[in-house]
Amino acid sequence: MRFQQLPLLPLIWGTTIALTQSPIHALSPLLPEATTNELLHLHRHLIEIESITENEYEVGQWLSTYLKKQNFTVELQEVSENRYNVYAYGGEKRSTSILVSSHIDTVPPFWPYYHNKTTDIIGGRGSVDAKGSVAAQIVAVQGLREQLNDDISLLFVVGEETGGDGMRAFSSWSERPSPAHEVVIFGEPTEGKLVCGHKGMLQLTIHVKGKAAHSGYPWLGVSANDILSEALSKLLVLRNGGLPSSEKYGNTTMNFGKIEGGVAANVVAETASAKIAVRLAGGTPKIVYDLVVEALTDVKAGAKQAGGDLLIERESEGYPPVNIDCDVEGFETLTVNYGTDVPLLAGEHKRFLYGPGSIFVAHSDHEALEKKELEQAVLDYRRLIIAASKVEHHKTQEVEEL
Ligand SMILES: *[C@@H]1O[C@H](CO)[C@@H](O)[C@H](O)[C@H]1NC(C)=O
Ligand SMILES: *[C@@H]1O[C@H](CO)[C@@H](O)[C@H](O)[C@H]1NC(C)=O
Ligand SMILES: *[C@@H]1O[C@H](CO)[C@@H](O)[C@H](O)[C@H]1NC(C)=O
Repeated sequence: MRFQQLPLLPLIWGTTIALTQSPIHALSPLLPEATTNELLHLHRHLIEIESITENEYEVGQWLSTYLKKQNFTVELQEVSENRYNVYAYGGEKRSTSILVSSHIDTVPPFWPYYHNKTTDIIGGRGSVDAKGSVAAQIVAVQGLREQLNDDISLLFVVGEETGGDGMRAFSSWSERPSPAHEVVIFGEPTEGKLVCGHKGMLQLTIHVKGKAAHSGYPWLGVSANDILSEALSKLLVLRNGGLPSSEKYGNTTMNFGKIEGGVAANVVAETASAKIAVRLAGGTPKIVYDLVVEALTDVKAGAKQAGGDLLIERESEGYPPVNIDCDVEGFETLTVNYGTDVPLLAGEHKRFLYGPGSIFVAHSDHEALEKKELEQAVLDYRRLIIAASKVEHHKTQEVEEL
């Protein structure tokens, strides 16, 4: 029972708080019962409302009502028709020092909520990615508002799973709180560890144009499929050691995610394309793009000579590997290979990335986590927020000393 007292410890700036040493014991409740009940209630409702990307309206409305009941001021930012980011703060201060953020959209398909009381495993679409983070963040913030004089706000965005249009919209919002938040805590499944960084991203599409002909007379046409096959074989060579690597992130990987071409077995293919995702372990999107262009120079020249063409299209700007702050005592750390909204929030701020549950189940049909992971996440978010507020306090002190 003594752990129940921990979150209620008075916070004294500049002193070390025993929270970092809280051991996890299977038999000791991690949170007071009322707090756990609130956490499970919130988590359950969020999962029960289907919110596959593009369909976030209802979950956003529910969340907004919930936060208002908790005495937050809630603002909705329209991202596109019927899609809203939810921004909430508790006091007078709209532009708080600390921002806690995650996303409310999920990948398809929808899976219903369940809570197996025997195993205390809770599952359903979004239970891990990222409604576990959302619920734990809200409960964590709710418990610290008073101590922090409400100098903390919440942001739940849409569209994270398909390129981050929600976070991009917040970043460039004409009403974005200003001055910008100084510390941002992002929530994504990280197995309860603090993430020190993730790989970068570059998405390419290779378009090939040929010339159709009867397959009995292939010399009358130019096969786009042949040209694309040649191009991909060059890229297979390139990705086997020719792309940037680093000690922190390992090798850059390149996935041929979708290949299309031609119309039938007996027709020389007129068009072909390949969609490629590159996860950068080093370098920049520009460097990798240039390497791809160089590797395909001969194939492109050959295609043009034959009367076809090959174009390499960059789907978006992409980003280099993203280093994230992870210098908080008492946390295990790791690096991950998936992308997040972290690089999409413009501005200078200290940033952390943490959340309950494993990425390995996140997009699967068995997405689930243990009740105690959720509870631990509440405690961990509180530790992070406290660490973040010390960064803040430290700065204020420096200013006072000047
Ligand atoms: C919200 O504020 C009202 C009025 O101050 C108070 O009675 C109520 O307990 C608060 N609710 C929560 C969840 O803090
Ligand atoms: C809960 O999980 C246990 C162990 O996997 C299983 O035997 C049981 O049937 C589950 N209970 C429900 C209600 O699904
Ligand atoms: C990186 O790729 C090289 C081959 O290019 C391989 O030998 C090495 O094991 C790979 N490293 C990792 C961490 O996968």
